[in-house]
Amino acid sequence: MKKDLLSINDFSREEVLTLFEKSADLKDKRKNGIEHLPLKGKSLGMIFNKNSTRTRISFEVGMYELGGQALFLTGDQLQLNRGETLKDSAQVLSRYLNGILIRTHGHQEVIDLAEHATIPVINGLTDLNHPVQILADIFTIKEKLGKIENIKIAYVGDCNNVTYSWMTGASLMGMELAIACPPEFKPDSLPALSGNGKVEFIEDPLNAVKDADIIYTDVWISMGDTGDLEKKEKILTPYQINQKLLDATGKKSLVMHCLPAHRGMEITSEVLDGKDSIVFDQAENRLHVQKAILETLLS
Ligand code: CP
Ligand code: NVA
Repeated sequence: MKKDLLSINDFSREEVLTLFEKSADLKDKRKNGIEHLPLKGKSLGMIFNKNSTRTRISFEVGMYELGGQALFLTGDQLQLNRGETLKDSAQVLSRYLNGILIRTHGHQEVIDLAEHATIPVINGLTDLNHPVQILADIFTIKEKLGKIENIKIAYVGDCNNVTYSWMTGASLMGMELAIACPPEFKPDSLPALSGNGKVEFIEDPLNAVKDADIIYTDVWISMGDTGDLEKKEKILTPYQINQKLLDATGKKSLVMHCLPAHRGMEITSEVLDGKDSIVFDQAENRLHVQKAILETLLS
């Protein structure tokens, strides 16, 4: 029976913890130059309908390091964009490949692909969520703080795909998530949450960050965002992560950003490059955690 990763809820809390053990082991093996090739002879198709630096490169390198290969496929080079149905494409790709990673706009596309593919499908970001990012982020928090339960994350900024995966991930893993976003961007409904974590919206960023172990943000304008984007940026201005906000936690807090960052917008360079920032360790861990995901789903 194949297993997909379309949302964090596709994994149980125990499965996530096992994944983190494997991630730490793979990280250690890589550091010590120990060869580990469980995916020898296997191929991952990577369909990208949106730009990417981290996701594309870390998955591609990850497959290579595990002994397999990755094929970078853009929507506009496949027959998919010339009218071949997702159902037919899913069936054909399943005859060649051992897994599919997809980054696209509509989340339903990923659900449909997974339904018709007989091989594992991994969500590499949709308009609705970004599960591989948040799994790597929670692993990073465990690595830095030594635990996951009862850690408080203050997410400050636009309420987007990354925020949605944070809600699912924090809830599943027993974390506390305070989301500070402008009321006009607060979603009407929350994703299905399981687990015993706590998710709450606190409009005022200075209140939301109180006692936070982690302050987290993402871009104000996501790929594919439409509408009055200038107005959106103006509304989000009070939600910038800067030194004043970091000081307002009242404790030593770490700063995270999934990247790419727009310096001077959602975060200042002073904070992004500051001593409390762990953003580049966070980016590195994408590789280790995704290798664990690949080994778990594809071998
Ligand atoms: N954080 C992240 O997914 O980065 P990319 O868009 O560069 O893949
Ligand atoms: N919310 C951002 C995340 C980029 C990794 C976007 O969807 O563009």
